[in-house]
Amino acid sequence: MKVIKSISKLRKELQKGRDKKETIGFVPTMGYFHKGHLSLIRCARRENDIVVVSIFVNPIQFGPHEDYKRYPRNLRRDALLAREEKVDYIFCPNVNTMYQSPHHTFVNVEKITDILCGLCRPGHFKGVTTVVSKLLHIVQPDNAYFGQKDYQQFVVIKKMVEELNIPVKIKLCSIVREHDGLAMSSRNVYLKPKERIRALALYASLCRARHLIKHGERNPQKVITEMKKILEKNFNKIDYIAILNPDGFDSIKRLRGKIFIGVAVYIGKIRLIDNIILKVK
Ligand code: PAJ
Repeated sequence: MKVIKSISKLRKELQKGRDKKETIGFVPTMGYFHKGHLSLIRCARRENDIVVVSIFVNPIQFGPHEDYKRYPRNLRRDALLAREEKVDYIFCPNVNTMYQSPHHTFVNVEKITDILCGLCRPGHFKGVTTVVSKLLHIVQPDNAYFGQKDYQQFVVIKKMVEELNIPVKIKLCSIVREHDGLAMSSRNVYLKPKERIRALALYASLCRARHLIKHGERNPQKVITEMKKILEKNFNKIDYIAILNPDGFDSIKRLRGKIFIGVAVYIGKIRLIDNIILKVK
């Protein structure tokens, strides 16, 4: 496994593989790996000849009062884990390598970034689409892997790739959870023991929704009301509870077909998100 910081070095290395008609799988991350990241890497390893993982804490996707500075980082540990998963290249550029100062060019996907997580994190998705389009141009992978944990991010990136004609397949991998149901996240390390217990209510609310729907409830508002009861008891602020069409996030009057149920809450300053996707008969 090679750890590469320079764009030109990575390009040279990957060209050797491309010349031999080898396929490239790419997993973009901000590092501090957990089993969610590793499941994406494993998927990429299964489906490609070469696996590239980027580790870059992208400053432009953090709001001015968000946790860019204290976001957890540990390149040595990440490199060890990546090596165990038989990753071929870690690409870990510096901020100056990715963004000339001043930086003038941004990629913005409209409308589907104004709702859900985009509503309370203005500019967040613009930062994500800008860095992901840069990374896709640098790596030029055949396949790129994203987690359902950040489902809106996946939808936004899929749209961007389609509309900008970037030749890559965007693949979705399911959410990896702790044994008690909490979705794995690099930010879970911020949770104090009592907060960690309260955080379970997030997945509990989604399970409650699934249970109600399984037993015949078809009115989204009624499901949301029941979820709210669980969330209100445990969190100081609910950011959103949403039941929407998973393709373009259109609203749903009656639950039928594929549906996305997403939640975002705050425990103190820590923001947690989770979701499920169901097929309703
Ligand atoms: P990061 O939060 O490091 O996540 C990297 C990838 O891991 C994302 O596709 C995310 O959805 C996935 N992931 C996180 N937790 C997961 C879990 N519990 N189960 C499955 N997959 C999970 O998302 C980002 O970084 C950044 O926004 C990035 C796309 C790298 C752009 O900077």
